[in-house]
Amino acid sequence: MDLMEYQAKELFAAHGVATTLGKVVETAEEARSAAEEIGGTVVVKAQVKAGGRGKAGGVKLATSPDEAFEHASAILGMQIKGLTVHRVLITPATPPVEEYYFSFLLDRSHRSYLCIASVEGGVEIEEVAKTNPDAVKQIPVDPGAGVDDAKAAEIVDEAGFPAELRDQAIAMVKALYATFVEEDATLVEVNPLARLEGDKLEALDGKVSLDDNADFRHEDHAKFEDKSAADPLEAKAKAKGLNYVKLDGEVGIIGNGAGLVMSTLDVVAYAGEDHGGVKPANFLDIGGGANAQVMADGLDVILGDDQVKSVFVNVFGGITACDEVANGIKGALEILGDQATKPLVVRLDGNNVDKGRAILDELNHPLVTQVPTMDGAADKAAELAGAAK
Ligand SMILES: Nc1ncnc2c1ncn2[C@@H]1O[C@H](COP(=O)(O)OP(=O)(O)OP(=O)(O)O)[C@@H](O)[C@H]1O
Ligand SMILES: [Mg+2]
Repeated sequence: MDLMEYQAKELFAAHGVATTLGKVVETAEEARSAAEEIGGTVVVKAQVKAGGRGKAGGVKLATSPDEAFEHASAILGMQIKGLTVHRVLITPATPPVEEYYFSFLLDRSHRSYLCIASVEGGVEIEEVAKTNPDAVKQIPVDPGAGVDDAKAAEIVDEAGFPAELRDQAIAMVKALYATFVEEDATLVEVNPLARLEGDKLEALDGKVSLDDNADFRHEDHAKFEDKSAADPLEAKAKAKGLNYVKLDGEVGIIGNGAGLVMSTLDVVAYAGEDHGGVKPANFLDIGGGANAQVMADGLDVILGDDQVKSVFVNVFGGITACDEVANGIKGALEILGDQATKPLVVRLDGNNVDKGRAILDELNHPLVTQVPTMDGAADKAAELAGAAK
Protein backbone atom coordinates (compact mmCIF):
# COMPACT_ATOMS: atom_id res chain seq x y z
CA MET A 1 0.00 0.00 0.00
CA ASP A 2 1.30 3.42 -0.96
CA LEU A 3 0.83 6.20 1.54
CA MET A 4 0.10 9.84 0.98
CA GLU A 5 2.61 12.45 2.10
CA TYR A 6 0.78 13.36 5.32
CA GLN A 7 0.55 9.67 6.30
CA ALA A 8 4.22 9.07 5.51
CA LYS A 9 5.11 12.07 7.68
CA GLU A 10 3.09 10.60 10.57
CA LEU A 11 5.28 7.50 10.41
CA PHE A 12 8.41 9.64 10.09
CA ALA A 13 7.49 11.59 13.21
CA ALA A 14 6.83 8.37 15.12
CA HIS A 15 10.38 7.22 14.38
CA GLY A 16 12.12 10.49 15.14
CA VAL A 17 12.57 11.80 11.58
CA ALA A 18 12.58 15.62 11.70
CA THR A 19 9.46 16.77 9.86
CA THR A 20 6.46 19.08 10.28
CA LEU A 21 3.06 17.43 10.24
CA GLY A 22 0.79 20.33 9.29
CA LYS A 23 -2.96 19.85 8.89
CA VAL A 24 -4.90 17.78 6.37
CA VAL A 25 -8.19 19.26 5.18
CA GLU A 26 -10.88 18.42 2.62
CA THR A 27 -12.43 21.83 1.92
CA ALA A 28 -11.11 25.27 1.01
CA GLU A 29 -12.86 26.73 4.06
CA GLU A 30 -10.97 24.33 6.34
CA ALA A 31 -7.77 25.25 4.48
CA ARG A 32 -8.37 28.91 5.39
CA SER A 33 -8.83 28.03 9.09
CA ALA A 34 -5.76 25.80 9.09
CA ALA A 35 -3.67 28.59 7.54
CA GLU A 36 -5.00 31.00 10.18
CA GLU A 37 -4.07 28.60 12.93
CA ILE A 38 -0.57 27.94 11.58
CA GLY A 39 0.01 31.63 10.85
CA GLY A 40 2.43 33.26 8.42
CA THR A 41 3.10 31.82 4.99
CA VAL A 42 1.90 28.28 4.42
CA VAL A 43 2.17 25.71 1.64
CA VAL A 44 -0.97 24.09 0.23
CA LYS A 45 -0.08 20.61 -0.99
CA ALA A 46 -2.25 18.18 -2.97
CA GLN A 47 -2.44 14.77 -1.28
CA VAL A 48 -2.42 12.12 -4.01
CA LYS A 49 -0.38 8.99 -4.45
CA ALA A 50 1.71 10.36 -7.29
CA GLY A 51 4.98 12.18 -7.68
CA GLY A 52 5.41 15.42 -9.58
CA ARG A 53 2.64 17.22 -7.70
CA GLY A 54 4.67 20.42 -7.62
CA LYS A 55 5.13 20.43 -11.39
CA ALA A 56 1.42 19.74 -11.90
CA GLY A 57 0.48 22.84 -9.91
CA GLY A 58 -0.47 20.90 -6.79
CA VAL A 59 1.99 22.63 -4.41
CA LYS A 60 1.43 26.35 -3.83
CA LEU A 61 2.64 28.98 -1.36
CA ALA A 62 0.00 31.11 0.35
CA THR A 63 0.94 34.29 2.20
CA SER A 64 -2.50 34.72 3.81
CA PRO A 65 -5.47 32.56 4.89
CA ASP A 66 -7.47 33.98 1.96
CA GLU A 67 -4.78 32.92 -0.45
CA ALA A 68 -4.73 29.46 1.15
CA PHE A 69 -8.48 29.35 0.49
CA GLU A 70 -7.92 30.30 -3.17
CA HIS A 71 -5.18 27.73 -3.71
CA ALA A 72 -7.11 24.98 -1.93
CA SER A 73 -10.18 25.73 -4.10
CA ALA A 74 -8.04 25.34 -7.22
CA ILE A 75 -6.17 22.23 -6.04
CA LEU A 76 -9.10 20.28 -4.54
CA GLY A 77 -10.75 18.39 -7.37
CA MET A 78 -7.72 18.81 -9.63
CA GLN A 79 -6.44 15.72 -11.49
CA ILE A 80 -2.79 14.76 -11.08
CA LYS A 81 -1.66 11.81 -13.20
CA GLY A 82 -5.27 10.64 -13.41
CA LEU A 83 -5.87 10.89 -9.65
CA THR A 84 -8.40 13.31 -8.22
CA VAL A 85 -7.26 15.44 -5.30
CA HIS A 86 -9.65 15.05 -2.34
CA ARG A 87 -7.35 16.40 0.37
CA VAL A 88 -4.73 19.07 0.81
CA LEU A 89 -2.04 19.40 3.43
CA ILE A 90 -1.54 22.84 4.93
CA THR A 91 1.93 23.18 6.37
CA PRO A 92 4.21 26.07 7.37
CA ALA A 93 6.34 27.40 4.52
CA THR A 94 9.96 26.70 5.31
CA PRO A 95 11.92 27.68 2.20
CA PRO A 96 14.72 25.20 1.54
CA VAL A 97 18.24 26.57 1.23
CA GLU A 98 19.30 23.31 -0.39
CA GLU A 99 17.33 20.22 -1.44
CA TYR A 100 18.61 16.66 -1.12
CA TYR A 101 17.15 13.30 -2.13
CA PHE A 102 17.12 10.27 0.12
CA SER A 103 15.53 6.81 0.01
CA PHE A 104 15.69 3.27 1.32
CA LEU A 105 14.10 0.58 -0.80
CA LEU A 106 13.81 -3.12 -1.27
CA ASP A 107 16.21 -4.14 -4.03
CA ARG A 108 14.54 -7.32 -5.29
CA SER A 109 17.09 -8.11 -7.96
CA HIS A 110 19.89 -8.21 -5.36
CA ARG A 111 17.69 -9.62 -2.58
CA SER A 112 18.88 -6.78 -0.46
CA TYR A 113 18.14 -3.23 0.62
CA LEU A 114 19.40 -0.23 -1.23
CA CYS A 115 19.91 3.35 -0.21
CA ILE A 116 19.77 6.03 -2.90
CA ALA A 117 20.97 9.48 -1.95
CA SER A 118 21.83 12.69 -3.72
CA VAL A 119 22.70 16.20 -2.65
CA GLU A 120 21.04 17.37 -5.87
CA GLY A 121 17.47 16.56 -4.85
CA GLY A 122 14.21 18.38 -5.50
CA VAL A 123 11.59 18.15 -8.21
CA GLU A 124 14.24 17.65 -10.93
CA ILE A 125 15.72 14.49 -9.39
CA GLU A 126 14.64 12.30 -12.34
CA GLU A 127 16.43 14.71 -14.68
CA VAL A 128 19.56 14.64 -12.48
CA ALA A 129 19.52 10.84 -12.53
CA LYS A 130 19.50 10.94 -16.34
CA THR A 131 21.94 13.73 -17.08
CA ASN A 132 24.30 13.43 -14.12
CA PRO A 133 23.96 9.89 -12.74
CA ASP A 134 27.19 10.25 -10.73
CA ALA A 135 25.41 12.74 -8.51
CA VAL A 136 22.98 10.02 -7.43
CA LYS A 137 24.69 7.54 -5.12
CA GLN A 138 23.54 3.98 -4.69
CA ILE A 139 24.67 2.34 -1.46
CA PRO A 140 23.75 -1.31 -0.78
CA VAL A 141 22.52 -2.03 2.74
CA ASP A 142 22.81 -5.54 4.16
CA PRO A 143 19.42 -6.27 5.77
CA GLY A 144 21.12 -8.54 8.33
CA ALA A 145 23.55 -5.89 9.47
CA GLY A 146 21.15 -2.95 9.18
CA VAL A 147 22.18 0.67 9.61
CA ASP A 148 24.22 1.49 12.71
CA ASP A 149 26.20 4.69 13.36
CA ALA A 150 29.08 3.56 11.18
CA LYS A 151 26.86 2.56 8.24
CA ALA A 152 24.85 5.79 8.54
CA ALA A 153 28.10 7.77 8.49
CA GLU A 154 29.26 5.84 5.41
CA ILE A 155 25.99 6.69 3.63
CA VAL A 156 26.18 10.37 4.58
CA ASP A 157 29.79 10.68 3.46
CA GLU A 158 29.24 8.80 0.21
CA ALA A 159 26.25 11.01 -0.62
CA GLY A 160 28.37 14.07 0.12
CA PHE A 161 26.24 15.86 2.69
CA PRO A 162 27.87 19.11 3.88
CA ALA A 163 30.14 18.63 6.90
CA GLU A 164 28.18 21.04 9.08
CA LEU A 165 25.07 18.84 8.62
CA ARG A 166 26.85 15.52 9.10
CA ASP A 167 25.56 14.72 12.60
CA GLN A 168 21.99 15.69 11.76
CA ALA A 169 22.17 13.68 8.55
CA ILE A 170 23.43 10.59 10.39
CA ALA A 171 20.56 10.83 12.88
CA MET A 172 18.13 11.36 9.98
CA VAL A 173 19.43 8.30 8.08
CA LYS A 174 19.07 6.11 11.17
CA ALA A 175 15.54 7.35 11.84
CA LEU A 176 14.54 6.76 8.22
CA TYR A 177 15.99 3.26 8.37
CA ALA A 178 14.01 2.61 11.56
CA THR A 179 10.87 3.72 9.71
CA PHE A 180 11.74 1.45 6.79
CA VAL A 181 12.36 -1.67 8.88
CA GLU A 182 9.98 -1.27 11.78
CA GLU A 183 7.01 -0.40 9.56
CA ASP A 184 7.83 -3.17 7.06
CA ALA A 185 8.09 -0.71 4.20
CA THR A 186 9.36 -1.51 0.72
CA LEU A 187 10.13 2.16 0.08
CA VAL A 188 10.85 5.17 2.24
CA GLU A 189 11.66 8.27 0.20
CA VAL A 190 12.30 11.88 1.12
CA ASN A 191 12.48 14.45 -1.68
CA PRO A 192 13.29 17.06 -0.75
CA LEU A 193 15.23 16.34 2.37
CA ALA A 194 15.73 20.03 2.92
CA ARG A 195 18.41 22.15 4.49
CA LEU A 196 16.42 24.97 6.06
CA GLU A 197 17.63 28.32 7.28
CA GLY A 198 19.73 27.89 10.40
CA ASP A 199 21.16 24.65 8.98
CA LYS A 200 18.26 22.53 10.10
CA LEU A 201 17.64 19.30 8.20
CA GLU A 202 13.98 18.39 7.65
CA ALA A 203 11.87 16.00 5.55
CA LEU A 204 9.65 18.38 3.54
CA ASP A 205 8.04 15.56 1.57
CA GLY A 206 7.61 11.84 2.19
CA LYS A 207 6.69 8.72 0.26
CA VAL A 208 6.24 5.37 1.93
CA SER A 209 5.10 2.05 0.43
CA LEU A 210 4.13 -0.55 2.99
CA ASP A 211 4.49 -4.27 2.39
CA ASP A 212 0.94 -5.68 2.52
CA ASN A 213 2.37 -9.12 3.33
CA ALA A 214 3.27 -7.75 6.76
CA ASP A 215 -0.18 -6.27 7.44
CA PHE A 216 -0.77 -8.87 10.15
CA ARG A 217 2.03 -7.29 12.17
CA HIS A 218 0.61 -3.77 11.87
CA GLU A 219 -3.01 -3.39 12.87
CA ASP A 220 -2.45 0.34 13.00
CA HIS A 221 -1.76 0.47 9.25
CA ALA A 222 -5.45 -0.17 8.51
CA LYS A 223 -6.12 3.50 9.23
CA PHE A 224 -4.07 4.46 6.16
CA GLU A 225 -6.39 2.67 3.78
CA ASP A 226 -8.39 5.02 1.61
CA LYS A 227 -11.69 3.17 1.63
CA SER A 228 -13.41 5.83 -0.48
CA ALA A 229 -10.94 5.31 -3.31
CA ALA A 230 -11.20 1.52 -3.37
CA ASP A 231 -13.54 -0.22 -5.79
CA PRO A 232 -16.48 -1.46 -3.66
CA LEU A 233 -16.32 -4.98 -5.15
CA GLU A 234 -12.57 -5.17 -4.54
CA ALA A 235 -13.13 -3.98 -0.97
CA LYS A 236 -15.79 -6.65 -0.45
CA ALA A 237 -13.50 -9.34 -1.89
CA LYS A 238 -10.64 -8.18 0.30
CA ALA A 239 -12.84 -8.39 3.38
CA LYS A 240 -13.55 -12.02 2.45
CA GLY A 241 -9.87 -12.72 1.86
CA LEU A 242 -10.28 -13.25 -1.90
CA ASN A 243 -7.71 -12.47 -4.56
CA TYR A 244 -9.96 -10.37 -6.81
CA VAL A 245 -9.30 -7.62 -9.33
CA LYS A 246 -12.20 -5.88 -11.06
CA LEU A 247 -11.88 -5.55 -14.82
CA ASP A 248 -14.12 -3.95 -17.40
CA GLY A 249 -16.03 -6.83 -19.02
CA GLU A 250 -19.08 -9.09 -18.93
CA VAL A 251 -17.77 -12.60 -18.25
CA GLY A 252 -17.12 -13.27 -14.55
CA ILE A 253 -14.11 -15.53 -13.98
CA ILE A 254 -13.32 -17.92 -11.15
CA GLY A 255 -10.31 -20.19 -11.30
CA ASN A 256 -7.80 -21.90 -9.06
CA GLY A 257 -4.22 -20.74 -9.35
CA ALA A 258 -3.06 -17.35 -10.61
CA GLY A 259 -1.52 -18.79 -13.79
CA LEU A 260 -4.69 -20.61 -14.80
CA VAL A 261 -6.80 -17.53 -14.11
CA MET A 262 -4.48 -15.34 -16.18
CA SER A 263 -4.74 -17.70 -19.16
CA THR A 264 -8.51 -17.92 -18.64
CA LEU A 265 -8.68 -14.13 -19.06
CA ASP A 266 -6.82 -14.51 -22.35
CA VAL A 267 -9.02 -17.26 -23.79
CA VAL A 268 -12.20 -15.45 -22.76
CA ALA A 269 -11.01 -12.20 -24.34
CA TYR A 270 -10.14 -14.15 -27.50
CA ALA A 271 -13.46 -16.05 -27.58
CA GLY A 272 -15.32 -12.81 -26.85
CA GLU A 273 -14.27 -11.37 -30.19
CA ASP A 274 -16.76 -13.73 -31.88
CA HIS A 275 -19.57 -12.72 -29.51
CA GLY A 276 -19.91 -8.96 -29.77
CA GLY A 277 -16.58 -8.17 -28.14
CA VAL A 278 -17.38 -9.37 -24.63
CA LYS A 279 -14.47 -9.38 -22.20
CA PRO A 280 -13.51 -10.88 -18.84
CA ALA A 281 -15.12 -9.00 -15.93
CA ASN A 282 -12.53 -9.80 -13.29
CA PHE A 283 -9.57 -11.77 -12.06
CA LEU A 284 -10.44 -14.13 -9.20
CA ASP A 285 -8.12 -16.83 -7.96
CA ILE A 286 -9.77 -18.95 -5.28
CA GLY A 287 -6.54 -20.84 -4.71
CA GLY A 288 -6.27 -24.34 -3.36
CA GLY A 289 -9.09 -24.72 -0.88
CA ALA A 290 -12.06 -24.27 -3.19
CA ASN A 291 -14.71 -25.26 -0.65
CA ALA A 292 -18.37 -24.25 -0.74
CA GLN A 293 -17.90 -21.11 1.34
CA VAL A 294 -14.97 -19.83 -0.75
CA MET A 295 -16.90 -20.61 -3.96
CA ALA A 296 -20.01 -18.88 -2.57
CA ASP A 297 -17.97 -15.84 -1.50
CA GLY A 298 -16.38 -15.67 -4.95
CA LEU A 299 -19.70 -16.01 -6.78
CA ASP A 300 -21.29 -13.49 -4.45
CA VAL A 301 -18.65 -10.86 -5.31
CA ILE A 302 -18.83 -11.58 -9.05
CA LEU A 303 -22.65 -11.55 -9.17
CA GLY A 304 -22.54 -8.21 -7.36
CA ASP A 305 -20.97 -6.76 -10.50
CA ASP A 306 -23.89 -5.43 -12.59
CA GLN A 307 -21.83 -5.68 -15.76
CA VAL A 308 -21.48 -9.46 -15.43
CA LYS A 309 -23.74 -11.49 -17.74
CA SER A 310 -22.25 -14.97 -17.34
CA VAL A 311 -19.68 -16.68 -15.12
CA PHE A 312 -16.94 -19.06 -16.17
CA VAL A 313 -15.66 -21.39 -13.43
CA ASN A 314 -12.40 -22.88 -14.66
CA VAL A 315 -10.82 -25.42 -12.33
CA PHE A 316 -7.95 -27.78 -12.79
CA GLY A 317 -8.09 -30.21 -9.89
CA GLY A 318 -4.77 -30.73 -8.19
CA ILE A 319 -4.45 -30.95 -4.43
CA THR A 320 -8.05 -29.79 -4.33
CA ALA A 321 -9.84 -32.51 -6.31
CA CYS A 322 -12.67 -31.82 -8.79
CA ASP A 323 -15.31 -33.51 -6.65
CA GLU A 324 -14.53 -31.10 -3.80
CA VAL A 325 -14.85 -28.19 -6.21
CA ALA A 326 -18.12 -29.59 -7.62
CA ASN A 327 -19.44 -29.88 -4.08
CA GLY A 328 -18.24 -26.33 -3.52
CA ILE A 329 -20.27 -25.12 -6.50
CA LYS A 330 -23.30 -27.10 -5.32
CA GLY A 331 -22.98 -25.70 -1.80
CA ALA A 332 -22.44 -22.18 -3.14
CA LEU A 333 -25.65 -22.35 -5.17
CA GLU A 334 -27.49 -23.49 -2.04
CA ILE A 335 -25.96 -20.67 0.03
CA LEU A 336 -26.75 -18.06 -2.61
CA GLY A 337 -30.26 -19.32 -3.44
CA ASP A 338 -32.18 -16.66 -5.39
CA GLN A 339 -29.12 -14.41 -5.50
CA ALA A 340 -27.56 -16.71 -8.11
CA THR A 341 -29.14 -15.28 -11.24
CA LYS A 342 -26.61 -15.59 -14.04
CA PRO A 343 -25.56 -18.62 -16.09
CA LEU A 344 -22.53 -20.55 -14.89
CA VAL A 345 -20.26 -22.36 -17.32
CA VAL A 346 -18.12 -24.91 -15.52
CA ARG A 347 -15.05 -26.63 -16.85
CA LEU A 348 -13.56 -29.23 -14.57
CA ASP A 349 -10.43 -31.20 -15.33
CA GLY A 350 -7.64 -32.94 -13.46
CA ASN A 351 -7.75 -34.87 -10.19
CA ASN A 352 -11.09 -36.77 -9.76
CA VAL A 353 -12.62 -35.14 -12.81
CA ASP A 354 -15.18 -37.93 -13.38
CA LYS A 355 -16.54 -37.71 -9.85
CA GLY A 356 -16.70 -33.92 -10.09
CA ARG A 357 -18.59 -33.90 -13.38
CA ALA A 358 -20.97 -36.59 -12.08
CA ILE A 359 -21.87 -34.42 -9.06
CA LEU A 360 -22.80 -31.49 -11.30
CA ASP A 361 -24.66 -33.76 -13.77
CA GLU A 362 -26.72 -35.08 -10.92
CA LEU A 363 -27.35 -31.59 -9.56
CA ASN A 364 -28.85 -30.70 -12.94
CA HIS A 365 -29.09 -27.01 -11.95
CA PRO A 366 -30.80 -24.80 -14.58
CA LEU A 367 -28.02 -22.18 -14.39
CA VAL A 368 -25.09 -24.61 -14.73
CA THR A 369 -23.65 -25.78 -18.03
CA GLN A 370 -20.63 -28.08 -18.07
CA VAL A 371 -18.15 -27.91 -20.93
CA PRO A 372 -15.17 -30.29 -20.84
CA THR A 373 -12.52 -28.09 -22.49
CA MET A 374 -11.18 -24.68 -21.54
CA ASP A 375 -11.55 -23.19 -25.03
CA GLY A 376 -15.05 -24.65 -25.42
CA ALA A 377 -16.13 -23.35 -22.03
CA ALA A 378 -14.67 -19.90 -22.73
CA ASP A 379 -16.63 -19.80 -25.98
CA LYS A 380 -19.85 -20.87 -24.26
CA ALA A 381 -19.46 -18.29 -21.47
CA ALA A 382 -18.71 -15.56 -24.02
CA GLU A 383 -21.71 -16.62 -26.13
CA LEU A 384 -24.06 -16.43 -23.12
CA ALA A 385 -22.67 -13.04 -22.10
CA GLY A 386 -22.90 -11.77 -25.70
CA ALA A 387 -26.54 -12.86 -25.99
CA ALA A 388 -27.47 -11.12 -22.73
CA LYS A 389 -25.61 -7.90 -23.48
N1 LIG B 1 6.94 23.26 3.54
C1 LIG B 1 7.50 23.77 2.45
N2 LIG B 1 8.01 25.03 2.46
C2 LIG B 1 8.58 25.55 1.36
N3 LIG B 1 8.72 24.91 0.21
C3 LIG B 1 8.24 23.66 0.11
C4 LIG B 1 7.60 23.02 1.23
N4 LIG B 1 7.23 21.79 0.86
C5 LIG B 1 7.61 21.66 -0.43
N5 LIG B 1 8.21 22.78 -0.88
C6 LIG B 1 8.78 22.99 -2.23
O1 LIG B 1 7.94 22.42 -3.20
C7 LIG B 1 8.63 21.43 -3.96
C8 LIG B 1 7.70 20.28 -4.31
O2 LIG B 1 7.15 19.74 -3.11
P1 LIG B 1 7.09 18.19 -2.85
O3 LIG B 1 8.41 17.60 -3.03
O4 LIG B 1 6.47 17.99 -1.55
O5 LIG B 1 6.08 17.66 -3.96
P2 LIG B 1 6.29 16.81 -5.30
O6 LIG B 1 6.33 17.75 -6.44
O7 LIG B 1 5.22 15.82 -5.33
O8 LIG B 1 7.61 16.07 -5.18
P3 LIG B 1 8.02 14.74 -5.99
O9 LIG B 1 8.12 15.14 -7.43
O10 LIG B 1 9.28 14.44 -5.31
O11 LIG B 1 6.95 13.74 -5.73
C9 LIG B 1 9.80 21.01 -3.07
O12 LIG B 1 10.87 20.54 -3.83
C10 LIG B 1 10.12 22.31 -2.35
O13 LIG B 1 10.98 23.09 -3.12
MG1 LIG C 1 8.81 15.65 -3.50
